[in-house]
Amino acid sequence: MAEKTKEEKLQSSNGGGIVVVDPKPNKGIASKFVDLVEKLIVKFMYDPSQPHHYLSGNFAPLADETPPCKNLPVKGYLPECLNGEFVRVGPNPKFAPVAGYHWFDGDGMVHGMRIKDGKATYVSRYVRTSRLKQEEFFSGSKFMKIGDLKGLFGLLMVNMQMLRAKLKVLDISYGTATANTALIYHHGKLLALSEADKPYILKVLEDGDLQTLGMLDYDKRLAHSFTAHPKVDPFTGEMFTFGYSHLPPYITYRVISKDGFMHDPVPITISDPIMMHDFAITENYAIFMDLPLYFRPKVPRFVISCILKFSYKYIIPLILSNESVILRMLTK
Ligand SMILES: [Fe+2]
Repeated sequence: MAEKTKEEKLQSSNGGGIVVVDPKPNKGIASKFVDLVEKLIVKFMYDPSQPHHYLSGNFAPLADETPPCKNLPVKGYLPECLNGEFVRVGPNPKFAPVAGYHWFDGDGMVHGMRIKDGKATYVSRYVRTSRLKQEEFFSGSKFMKIGDLKGLFGLLMVNMQMLRAKLKVLDISYGTATANTALIYHHGKLLALSEADKPYILKVLEDGDLQTLGMLDYDKRLAHSFTAHPKVDPFTGEMFTFGYSHLPPYITYRVISKDGFMHDPVPITISDPIMMHDFAITENYAIFMDLPLYFRPKVPRFVISCILKFSYKYIIPLILSNESVILRMLTK
């Protein structure tokens, strides 16, 4: 790549764009109202006898995090020159779903094996996402699940999240990432990724523990989703990534210098919005696949539009006016 400009040098030395994640969810009448509507939708439209394959057997989540567990028994010996931490991430839902659940829905939990001075330490920690922090605030599942996205029921469940966001019950200003899919190390930062949102940055502490520092937006240069499978060029140290969207441009390609500077977006033109989980790079090319899995909701757009318009025109003002009436009663 070309030599860095003055602006690039300044931005790459400026903390690298770590955003402290501090969402502001709200309990209250609006929150209770949406919970009630959701309960009714689930009661009348969801079949609870469906098994949750991804919550049982080998897929069953761990109930708790594991603080650093030191001096693990070692069979044989660990060479003293071997120092580092092996980390992996996967979905581990903290709260039971209100209805469906898919493997992709779980909160990201990182498992680490620290090896140092011939000794081994194990740790597991949640990535402290905005989503997890807010569900902890409510002590329950509040965000939409991919496992619910089937037919009219799925559409209504999408609306529950939109309603919660509109009423400020949930704060989605930090996105809805689970950070549960993959990890990558670049520019001295360990990143936990899920393809629908921005990366979360983790710090590996001296004792092997893992701490979430926040989200990475590359000094506000990243405003779209970020694949869970970016590639790092071992020769140049650059990282290559992309985001996909259901709105144009459907694919946006980005290059991050070895110093952590995110270059300008490169829109990739394709005919329809697609789901693109991964891509590839070669010495000279980035390769995007125009895949056959399109975003084409079966429910006609005017139906979605009518449901949203009705919700926002009639239901939301009703809730807000009721809340203000009750507040007036309380202050009398
Ligand atoms: Fe993957």
